[in-house]
Amino acid sequence: MSRLWDKGLPLDARILRYTAGEDHMLDARLVHYDVLGSIAHVEMLAATGLINGVDSASICAGLRRLDADFAAGKWSIRIEDEDAHTALESRLVENIGSAGARMHLGRSRNDQVLTALRLYLRDVATDLTQRVEALRASLRGVAERQGTIPLPGYTHMQQAMPSSVALWCGGFDEAFVDIVAGLQSVRRRINKNPLGSAAGYGTPGLPIDRNLTAQKLGFDVTQQPVTAVQLSRGKAESALLFEITLLVQDLGRMASDLLLFYTQEFSYIALPAEVTTGSSIMPQKRNPDVLELIRAAAATTQACLDESLLITAKLPSGYQRDLQRLKAPLFRGIDLGIESVDIMAYVLDGMRFIAENIRLDPGIYAAEEANRIVREEGIPFRDAYRRIAERFVK
Ligand code: ARG
Repeated sequence: MSRLWDKGLPLDARILRYTAGEDHMLDARLVHYDVLGSIAHVEMLAATGLINGVDSASICAGLRRLDADFAAGKWSIRIEDEDAHTALESRLVENIGSAGARMHLGRSRNDQVLTALRLYLRDVATDLTQRVEALRASLRGVAERQGTIPLPGYTHMQQAMPSSVALWCGGFDEAFVDIVAGLQSVRRRINKNPLGSAAGYGTPGLPIDRNLTAQKLGFDVTQQPVTAVQLSRGKAESALLFEITLLVQDLGRMASDLLLFYTQEFSYIALPAEVTTGSSIMPQKRNPDVLELIRAAAATTQACLDESLLITAKLPSGYQRDLQRLKAPLFRGIDLGIESVDIMAYVLDGMRFIAENIRLDPGIYAAEEANRIVREEGIPFRDAYRRIAERFVK
């Protein structure tokens, strides 16, 4: 018996393949978190007297072994398993016998998948925060090494006012500070215990202790009432994908600046050989493809966000299998966000501004001069503006 709901009735292989979809691959990253959720659940069942201590110990040991074996590549999720939850339970029963069959009391895969996802997302939020902090350190490195180099500040792609490498870095750095704050608020949304809401309506007739699993798993609160749980699936996902999209959009804008700075016409920056790629026909080329791909990444993360939002839009309350499709865009957006942050930090570490190539147009000081006249002569800014403007009328 492969599937937890198998009643001995036939299942069309095409239906299995379509409904299980990509879960046997996507759920690989949830195995460890499903083990953590299951151990907390089983310990709670033992603490409330719903299973005995011997069975609980043997289930937990079996789960820990399966977790380690999965990490070591000793088993994988098959399509016949449908998903990580089924794969773990059926292997547990194979390994430890009938005690394993006592684990699935007072829960459903519907709250199980949410528990595993939230534990995973919580780690992602922390991990991503650390990577954004590392990116900020790289940006600080640029400012420390070359911050005093003047840089034209552009509006409409025209030299506008004097800026500097430090000011350029500082603007992006502040954007990343906002992302870190955004990730903290996503973490608060994530950190509610869904476990024990079962299929979405609790466990009638079974005195489980949801606060105990919340405590064991480090959730801030138990999500209440039980009907709120399935209604919340997808929201933390979308909130995280939104923050990732903002982050990757800023990386893309930074990449866009650097692409301009790297053209032969500008030559404001030099990139080390190891970050550029070549052309199959033009021997002279050293292309900044990495920056172009960073610039394009926000299209993908935003598409992932849109996909996530669209899956949940207009669904009725309660668990719907549609929700399974949230995982693909979620994981894709997370992976691309992480890769893009890391690679941009690497580019920044090797990049160098070439001060002698950076020329500020004399007109760039016009507003500053008008401001000076206002302060020196006490005339209205509009008059000072007109006086300076005369120089630029041909
Ligand atoms: N793979 C499923 C998901 O991600 C797990 C829950 C399945 N529940 C069900 N009732 N078929 O949503």
